[in-house]
Amino acid sequence: MNAGEMTMIRALRADEQELLARATLGNMNWAGPRYTLDQAMAVPAIAHYFTWWPGPFDFGLVAEDAQGVAVGAVWLRYFTAADPGFGFVDASIPELCVWVAEGQRGLGLGTRLITGIFEHARSRALPAISLSVETGNPARSLYERLGFVPAGPYFDAGTLVRHL
Ligand SMILES: CC(C)(COP(=O)(O)OP(=O)(O)OC[C@H]1O[C@@H](n2cnc3c(N)ncnc32)[C@H](O)[C@@H]1OP(=O)(O)O)[C@@H](O)C(=O)NCCC(=O)NCCS
Repeated sequence: MNAGEMTMIRALRADEQELLARATLGNMNWAGPRYTLDQAMAVPAIAHYFTWWPGPFDFGLVAEDAQGVAVGAVWLRYFTAADPGFGFVDASIPELCVWVAEGQRGLGLGTRLITGIFEHARSRALPAISLSVETGNPARSLYERLGFVPAGPYFDAGTLVRHL
């Protein structure tokens, strides 16, 4: 059994905005230090991934290690055309964010979190999920392995959609 398998997956709570801020920062800094938390909070297009969590239809999952420490998270956030996320496709399609703590990556946790959120999304009859991935981020191959495809010619090349 590896460290990834020893973690428990549970629902993300409404009082876990701080975890989402940490996760968003980890995602923005995937290639190395780029933003501090203060800087991320000052950019509305970044901060809206974690502030005012949750919106009426938003939901997510947390991976917790044996000590109860959060080591990963996946969450679905609804945006609007007036205030879109980087991977915005349509107001009816939430955007997925996923993050796994350094030292825990490559152990299958991200896969477990994403497939777990697919189940919840299907049980809510969501048509699809979108996301944004930057050029060069190896996370793209994970998303493609899990069925995400380019959103289409009208969208940025890093905007992917998973039909459910
Ligand atoms: C992307 C991320 C959530 C994946 O979670 P994970 O637990 O490492 O993923 P898994 O172990 O389930 O799967 C490994 C896959 O993730 C990809 N991956 C991306 N970044 C990785 C990293 N830093 N370490 C290991 N694998 C990584 C691998 O290429 C691999 O793809 P493959 O299985 O198609 O070969 C996690 O690595 C992470 O938080 N990375 C840093 C932040 C980031 O890039 N977030 C995504 C922003 S769009």
